[in-house]
Amino acid sequence: MIRQINDTFILETDKTTYAFRVLDTGYLEHLYYGRKIHIADEDGAVASALFEKHEYAPGINNVYDGTRADFSFNDMRLEFSANGKGDNREPFIEVVHADGSRTSDFIFESAKIVKGKKMLDTLPSSYDEKGECSGLIVTLFDRNYDLAVELSYHVFESCDVITRSAKLINRSKDSVRILRFMSVQIDTDESDMIFTTFNGAWIREMGRVDHELTVGTIANGSCTGTSGSTANPFVMFSKKCTSENNGTAYAFNLIYSGNHIETVQISEFGKLRFLSGINPKGFEYVLTAGETFEAPEAVFTVSEEGFNGMSYNMHRFVSDHILRGEWAKMERPVLLNSWEAAYFDITEFKLLRMARKAKSVGIELFVMDDGWFGSRNDDRSSLGDWHANKKKLPGGVAGLSKKIHNMGLGFGIWVEPEMISEDSDLYRGHPDWAMKIPGKPHSKGRNQMILDLANDEVCRYITDTLASLFADGGIDYVKWDMNRTMTDVYSPALPAARQGECAHRYIMGLYRILKNLTERFPDILFEGCASGGNRFDPGMLCFFSQIWGSDDTDAVERVRIQTGYSYGYPLRTVSAHVSSVHQTLRVTPLETRFDVAAFASLGYECNLCDLDQNETEAIKDQIRLYKQWRSVFQFGRFYRGSNIYEGGDVTWNVVSPDGIRSAAMIFQPLVRPNDQRGRIRIFGLDPDGVYHFYNRPFKIDIRVFGDLINMIAPVHVKNGSAVHDIISRLVKLDGEKEDITAHGDMLEKAGVILSPKFSSTGFNDKTRVFPDFASRLYFAEKK
Ligand code: GLA
Repeated sequence: MIRQINDTFILETDKTTYAFRVLDTGYLEHLYYGRKIHIADEDGAVASALFEKHEYAPGINNVYDGTRADFSFNDMRLEFSANGKGDNREPFIEVVHADGSRTSDFIFESAKIVKGKKMLDTLPSSYDEKGECSGLIVTLFDRNYDLAVELSYHVFESCDVITRSAKLINRSKDSVRILRFMSVQIDTDESDMIFTTFNGAWIREMGRVDHELTVGTIANGSCTGTSGSTANPFVMFSKKCTSENNGTAYAFNLIYSGNHIETVQISEFGKLRFLSGINPKGFEYVLTAGETFEAPEAVFTVSEEGFNGMSYNMHRFVSDHILRGEWAKMERPVLLNSWEAAYFDITEFKLLRMARKAKSVGIELFVMDDGWFGSRNDDRSSLGDWHANKKKLPGGVAGLSKKIHNMGLGFGIWVEPEMISEDSDLYRGHPDWAMKIPGKPHSKGRNQMILDLANDEVCRYITDTLASLFADGGIDYVKWDMNRTMTDVYSPALPAARQGECAHRYIMGLYRILKNLTERFPDILFEGCASGGNRFDPGMLCFFSQIWGSDDTDAVERVRIQTGYSYGYPLRTVSAHVSSVHQTLRVTPLETRFDVAAFASLGYECNLCDLDQNETEAIKDQIRLYKQWRSVFQFGRFYRGSNIYEGGDVTWNVVSPDGIRSAAMIFQPLVRPNDQRGRIRIFGLDPDGVYHFYNRPFKIDIRVFGDLINMIAPVHVKNGSAVHDIISRLVKLDGEKEDITAHGDMLEKAGVILSPKFSSTGFNDKTRVFPDFASRLYFAEKK
C-alpha cells in the first residue's frame, strides 16, 4: 500500500515500511526503510521523530543559498542527489548541459499514486500479473534547465519487495549528455552495517565477501559489457549479529545485464549512501530534445528473519514477478549435455549413442552443445554461421532432432548468437557488423569478436536467423551462450559523439532480440549461459528460465557457488550438472555430485556410455529419486543451515510450499579426525506436524576403506588392485540408517543427531562413513 500524509510518502509491504518526505525547500528527505512501523503519531501526522534536525551548516559545508543556514546538502539524507550544489558524495545523476555546466538542481514538482505497474519501454522490468501492485511516480524538475526526472516506486506487498526506477526527460530544446543516471539511492544514518557482495571469476562465481564499512567508498560492479562473474549486481546489508535465521538483512538487485555498479559510501558525518545502477565508467548518453532515458529497475527487500528470510522474499519476487512465460512455473526436465562428453568432436552417430544411453537412465532432454555448425571443430571459427555441418549431421539439425524425438527425448541446441568469428561467412560478408574501431587493431577473447547489437540491422539478422533455426529444427530447449567480454567498445553504426552509448545500446538490442524470440517460441525452454555465470542477473531471468551457474561442476566448488546464488535467486534458476569434473580434477563421490546438483535444475554432462554397470545403476536411481522430489527441489522454500563460510559441515534444506515434504543435505568439506558429531536441522516444517525423517538408503563402496580391508579379508588385498576392484563390485556394505518420527518443531529447533561418523575405529552398520567431500540426503514427510 502507498499512502501520502501531508508531505510524506509511505510505502508499505506486509512486513516493511519505506518513507520519504518533500521538504519545504522542495528536496526529498529519505526518512526510513526497515521493518514495518507506525509512522504517524496520535493525531495522524507523521511523527517528527523521523525528521533530520539541522540548524547550521558545519565548517566548510556549503549552504544552498544565503537565506538558510540549516540548508546544506552534504549532511542530508536525500532520496535523490545531484551534482554540483554542495553534496560531495556520489550523486544519482550527473549530466552535462548545453552550456557545459555539470550542475543540476532538481526539486519536487508532483506526485501520483497509481494502481498496477507498467513495463519499462527500453529495458525488461518486473511484472504484476494480478494487478496487486501499487506505484508512486514522483516528478522532479531542474530549476535551471528544462529537465525532469520521474522516480517510480512499486510495492509488492506479499513478498516484501519494493522496486525503483527512474526516467530522465529532456523537456528543453537542447541536447544534454548523461554521464550517470542511477536506479536507486538510499541514504541512512545507520552505517554500522556489513556490506556483502558476491565476487569471483570464471569457474569461481558467487563467492560471498563481507565488507566492514568505514569512511570512504566501496564499489561493486562490472565494466565488461556483462553483469559479470567478478561482481554480481545482487548485494546485501546486514547487522554484525545477523545470521541465517535471525536479524536484519537488506538486499538489492538490478534488472540489468550490462555494466552495473553498486556503491556504498560512508560520509565524513557517518551517513551511509547506497547507489545502484548503470556503471558510469565508459558511459555517456546524448539525450536530444524531447527524448527520455530509462534507468534499469532496482529491486530491494528487508527482512528481520535473517538471510533466509531475505532470500525467501527475493526468491518469491523472482519467481512471481521476473521469470515469465510457460516455463516460469513448469518443472524443468533432467537433461544430458554433450559438451564435456565430446567437446567439439561430435557426429550424429556419437550423439545418438549418448542419447540412447541417456534415455535408458531416465534423462528427458538431450542437448547438443557447441560444434554442430559451420566448420566448427574448435573455438577459432564459424560463430555467426548458424547452419548445420553436414559432415557431422548429414540430416541437419532437423534430422537429428527427429531421431532424438523418436527415442522419446526432448531435443536442445547450443547457440552463441551475439558472437562472430573472423573466420566465418558472416564476417566475410559483413565485417562492419562486429564491434570494433574501424581501421584499428582490436583484441579478441576466445578467438572471437562481439556482434554490434547497437546496430538494428545486426539485431534483425540474429532474430531472423535464430527464428528459422528454432522453427525448422524441432527445438525444445536452447542454451544461449556468450563467451567473451567487451573490449574496443565501439559501434561502427553509431556516430562518434554517441560511442559512449554503445555498451548500453548493445544490452537494449539484446533484450529486443530475446523478447522477440522468447515470445515467438513460448514452448522452448531457454537457458542462459556466459562461460557459466558471467551474466547471471534478473535482466537475463526475464527471458531465460534458468542459467548455467558455472562451468565448474566440481561438487565442492558447486556447494560454495550454489550457496552464493541461493541468497538472491531461486534454486530452479540455477542449472547444475553431474559431470566427470574437468575443472579442478578433484575426485568426489558420484553421490555428492548428485546431491549438490539436485538442489537446482538437474542435468548430466559426461559420457554416460563410458560408465560401468554400477555407475549406470547409481545414476538411474538418482534420476528416479530426483523426479520424485523434483517439485520440492525446484519450487520449495530453501533454507541455508550451517554455512559453508563457517568451515564445518554444510546443511541445506528445501520444503514444499505446503510444508508437507522436505529434502535436506549435509555435506562435509574435509574430515575432522576423531569427531563423531553430526546434526541436521530441518527448517520450515509445520511445528505441530509429525514427520517421518529418514535418509536415502545407500551402499558403501569398500574401496573407501583403502587397505583397511585387510582387517577383515581372509587373503591380503592390495589397495587399488584389480582384486580390490572386483571385491568392491561384488561386496557392498549397507550404509547407516536414519529412521525416526518427530514433530516439525523438534526437527527445526533441536534437529536430528545423526549416527556417529567413522573415525578410524569401530565401523559397523550404524556408523556414518563420511570421508572428505561426502554428503547425505535426508527426507522428512508429514504423517
Ligand atoms: C562455454 C559454456 C560451456 C560450453 C562451451 C561451448 O564455455 O559455458 O558450457 O557450452 O562454451 O563452447
